[in-house]
Amino acid sequence: MKVYLETMGCQMNKLDSELLDGQLRAAGHEIVGEARSAEVVLYNTCSVRGHAEEKVYSRLGEQGKRKRNGRKELIIGVLGCMAQRLGGGLLKRFAELDIVCGPSEIDRLVEMIAAVAERRDRPLAVAPPRAKRSRDVDERANRRLDAFDLSRPVGPTRSAQAYVRVQRGCDSFCTYCIVPYVRGSEQSRDGRTICREVRRLADGGCREVTLIGQAVNRYRHRDGDRTTGLADLLADVHAIDGIERIRFVTSYPAGFDRAIFEAMRDLPKVCEYLHLPAQSGSDRILKAMNRKYTVTEYLDLIAEARATVPHLVVAGDFIVGFPGETEEDFAASCELIRNVGYKNSFIFKYSPRDGTPAADRMADDVAVEVKRRRNTALLAVQNEVSLAHHQALVGTTRRVLIEGLSVRAHKQPTPPAPGLVQLTGRTRGDQIVVFEGPRSLTGQFADVTLTGATALALTGRIAQR
Ligand code: SAH
Ligand code: SF4
Ligand code: F3S
Repeated sequence: MKVYLETMGCQMNKLDSELLDGQLRAAGHEIVGEARSAEVVLYNTCSVRGHAEEKVYSRLGEQGKRKRNGRKELIIGVLGCMAQRLGGGLLKRFAELDIVCGPSEIDRLVEMIAAVAERRDRPLAVAPPRAKRSRDVDERANRRLDAFDLSRPVGPTRSAQAYVRVQRGCDSFCTYCIVPYVRGSEQSRDGRTICREVRRLADGGCREVTLIGQAVNRYRHRDGDRTTGLADLLADVHAIDGIERIRFVTSYPAGFDRAIFEAMRDLPKVCEYLHLPAQSGSDRILKAMNRKYTVTEYLDLIAEARATVPHLVVAGDFIVGFPGETEEDFAASCELIRNVGYKNSFIFKYSPRDGTPAADRMADDVAVEVKRRRNTALLAVQNEVSLAHHQALVGTTRRVLIEGLSVRAHKQPTPPAPGLVQLTGRTRGDQIVVFEGPRSLTGQFADVTLTGATALALTGRIAQR
């Protein structure tokens, strides 16, 4: 069948979709680029903000209409975090919806599609809801999901970069966040399984791996009396031939094992890049968010990281308009962005999520217009800081891993010169670089001399050898 798969949300979802793509193709399905021509339409969804969910509702409305208006055989599925959060409620709300499949059941999706095609079942597959703050781990589900991760497609048709899951779930329970409820208890995968997966990727031509977890610096796997932390895991992955760059995201700013900074300094393949969301620059708000650090502790951690890892590049996340956020709290977030000098920050307007402590116990008391204004203002501060960060690199030559056509080249197919296209790639510090070169460089490294800067990216030209 022709399958359209749209992915929303974080790296976890992107990885799940990549794995699913492999399984669907292996089962003989064809992946198509638009919903219009598909016989199966799948949405891998995110629940982190209301906006992400509304997008899915509107897509389901459109597809439902298509189905009612003559495309009776169309199969529609909701996967991912919204499926886990809303479960059977989605099937009730959308009569045309066929499949609801949470992240813990995604390895069974291909079977579910077959069941719908044959018997018009309406499969509902989600994990039982997480009991209040339970730390229970479903070992059987874990083994299934590990096998799913290991089944990933590798080879020359795949990208030179890959996400590799090292942790599932999250136990942080930040008061605003839905992730611990939809992704379950925090657990770390066995390092040997992770290395097996990375070896397969490397043999297939992958050059860069990003180890992903919601609090990846807390990675910790126990086997008998041996405990492996993230620093040990980095060393093990570092030993794998073919891999040239290693990153890890996202880090949580408390309980940070300093050995990780030493690993970043001592292991040449580990990139000097740290994604360390602060969320707010105000201690009062951090406390209400249940983030377990103060601004001073956060800044000390960054200072320590910078003292250990030369040329460290830091990225952040911020939420504006959290319940009770005053102009003073907000000003503190602006100040923190300037103090840290982030390369970039992801900035979000607070969105209450049902079932989280903030939504249940705190009034969403910052007006929509105020949230919007703070969002724009914080972004403006970050853009200034980002521009300065990028400008400081102009004139230097950096090694870039080329991802492919730039956004502009995608939209505007006329090449800048015969045989050349506009390419985009990333430095070790995750800075985006746009330059001209032959398309065949995709997936390879090139040295690029940087000639210009904006808040978002650098421009450059391939260095003469
Ligand atoms: N585990 C990662 C990020 C997970 S979600 C971490 O802790 O850093 C990605 C980002 O979405 C968060 O960092 C936070 O900035 C934002 N976010 C999460 N819940 C939100 C909510 N209810 N409203 C607005 N932004 C939210
Ligand atoms: Fe959400 Fe906090 Fe966990 Fe990140 S660390 S996923 S923000 S609960
Ligand atoms: Fe969204 Fe789920 Fe990721 S809620 S941010 S897709 S873990």
